Amino acid sequence: MELRQQEMAINRSAIKLFVKKKYLLTAILFLSFFFISYIYPSTEKKLTKPSEELSLLGRYLFYDTRLSYNQTKSCASCHDPSLAFSDGYRTAVGADGYAVRRNTPSLLNVRYRGSFTWGDSGIHRFDRQLFFPFFNQHPKELGWENEQAVGARIKNIPGYVALFNTVFPKHKTPISIKNIFYAITAFEKTIVSHASRYDAYLEGNESILTADEKAGMRLFFSRKLNCGTCHVWDPKNKLIPSRFENTGLYNLDMTGDYPRSDQGLYEITKNDFDKGKFRVPSLRNVLLTAPYTHDGSVSTVTEMIDIYARGGRKIEVGEHIGDGSQNPYKSKLIKGFSISKEEKENLISFLNCLTDTGYLKNKKLLFVALNK
Ligand code: HEC
Ligand code: HEC
Repeated sequence: MELRQQEMAINRSAIKLFVKKKYLLTAILFLSFFFISYIYPSTEKKLTKPSEELSLLGRYLFYDTRLSYNQTKSCASCHDPSLAFSDGYRTAVGADGYAVRRNTPSLLNVRYRGSFTWGDSGIHRFDRQLFFPFFNQHPKELGWENEQAVGARIKNIPGYVALFNTVFPKHKTPISIKNIFYAITAFEKTIVSHASRYDAYLEGNESILTADEKAGMRLFFSRKLNCGTCHVWDPKNKLIPSRFENTGLYNLDMTGDYPRSDQGLYEITKNDFDKGKFRVPSLRNVLLTAPYTHDGSVSTVTEMIDIYARGGRKIEVGEHIGDGSQNPYKSKLIKGFSISKEEKENLISFLNCLTDTGYLKNKKLLFVALNK
């Protein structure tokens, strides 16, 4: 009996010690967490709700051609709000008038993307992406040689000096490339819209789609066409996952090569199986963002569907001759199918349900100019 009581007493103090230790441990964890987040504030986290002033500053910058080295281009020259923040060119045109190698993607809902750019799966942060338009040289986009030159330009514009002082009051040098990127990022995160008819349908308004559109939707998600297997987004969290696929657009010399100027994900991984793999684009507003694919080499949605129906693109003349349907690295999901004229029309009418111009009513996204 005594022994048992002793045992229980020992157990109790062990429990107490354990509980104390646990509290202590939790307290230490908590404190170190606060300490770390105080020293290294995460930019991403701070931006979940960008302040109005910060994103307004970013908006001024986004629409300002003084943001290019020779004052010819702004972000909006290539990401035009009237074209869902894309540009209508096959491939973008940089500050010197030379063609950039890739087609400009829409920036609508870009904050929900799993990764940025057509061919690199490793770029997840806006501030990393921003280095490309600012500093790319061959060809130039905004065309800057270095950060100092950008800073010098902005410091010469009194309106910006005042704005940066207001937005970054405690900073020693309010005008820095870091803060410029920070402001633009805040604006980019506000480029959001979920007002397409398909969004309404997903939210429960089933009668908003016509019978033809619903037939098109069934085709889109069918095993025969597989469109919905690759072009997915997560309606609940609005996330657009990144997936890289080869759709059989090229097959140079029957080797599986895409044009040397752009082999997609392969450029990053150097793995043959990644040749011709590009990020699956979001089809939101697809009818506003022609021409299509990474190099803008497909002019219309109809042409795109015909390529899928053939199981890949055959090019019969010119330097890119080859039958993409035989590309050894092509996705197994692209196997070709037969489709009637009516089915094709229904499919396109479904794609049209992904058009969402609701964002154009949000004045905070549109053009604004800082004159002085
Ligand atoms: C000369 C045209 C041009 C200019 C100027 C330009 N962009 Fe882009 N942007 C592009 C192209 C082309 C791509 C695709 C690049 C790639 O995939 O390699 C792109 C990609 C992006 C992406 C990634 C989108 C995605 O879906 O992956 C973001 C974000 C972006 N640009 C923002 C900006 C911002 C902000 C500015 C201004 C600081 C800017 N761009 C200036 C042409 C341009
Ligand atoms: C294996 C995955 C896959 C399947 C299946 C697929 N796509 Fe795609 N789709 C892609 C990829 C990847 C691209 C970009 C290819 C490139 O740039 O080289 C693309 C591009 C597109 C584009 C051009 C979008 C733009 O902004 O440039 C459209 C339109 C399109 N697909 C519609 C469809 C339709 C309709 C179907 C069904 C018939 C379909 N896709 C099936 C992966 C797929």
